[in-house]
Amino acid sequence: MTHTPKNPIGIYDSGVGGLTVLRELRARLPGEDILYFGDSINCPFGNRNEEELQAITSRIFTFFASRGVKLTVSACNTTSALFQLKSEPDFGFPILGIIVPIAVRIARLGLGEIGLIGTEFTVSSGIYERQLKNFAPEMQVWGQGSRNLARLVDQCRFDGDEIPNEVEKCTGALFAQKKLDHVILACTHYPIVRDTFCKAAPGVTFLDPAKEQAVSAEKLLSEQGLKNPQASGKLEVYTSGDPALFERVAEKIGLGGEFKAERMVL
Ligand code: DGL
Repeated sequence: MTHTPKNPIGIYDSGVGGLTVLRELRARLPGEDILYFGDSINCPFGNRNEEELQAITSRIFTFFASRGVKLTVSACNTTSALFQLKSEPDFGFPILGIIVPIAVRIARLGLGEIGLIGTEFTVSSGIYERQLKNFAPEMQVWGQGSRNLARLVDQCRFDGDEIPNEVEKCTGALFAQKKLDHVILACTHYPIVRDTFCKAAPGVTFLDPAKEQAVSAEKLLSEQGLKNPQASGKLEVYTSGDPALFERVAEKIGLGGEFKAERMVL
């Protein structure tokens, strides 16, 4: 299919996490029409195997293809890692992952060592380490996975101790391996509770890959002559879970305004 600047961008994640990417994309590319799908009934993606993730993403990409998306932004580290391990599926549009753009930026910071906290799939895939070493071969990388944090955030369990306890468990286990100054929040759900990370590890810089991914998305669209010049694009948000939770997170991270989510199961 031939795309024009008017075609929408598709963004997906296992749930509310990708809203942190949506926020950056809306700021950088305000003219784009955006179609967001958050697959909360299949969350957490990070505890799943490759076959399950391929089946889940195929359904999402089939939906995006039916809506003529010109670019898919993977607002999910887990499936971005998957598409680095396996080749990217062909649904007639490019799929922009979240890992390579932040790896390039971190390499430029000239750090000798870095930590990452993400889903078990992302951390055990070794893709962050591989990409970081690609651009900065001397860099030492330490990782810590969580089986629980993405799910707790997706269910908006912001009151109570579950999220702080899980964050402390992750940062504690990471720093028991090595005390680090810089840590990548390598799951898009985690920047939603960035404050909790900062409280658990004062003085540590937590990096959110979303901004670099938005910069890459803009570059890709500009190079292909597909950037939408209109002033303000439309936003459609669908979730297979509870739309009220999406609206709650949108408000928490400052997406707010006229944000509305609808339920849809693929
Ligand atoms: N937010 C996704 C990520 O960045 C998926 C989290 C999950 O569902 O496990 O990895």
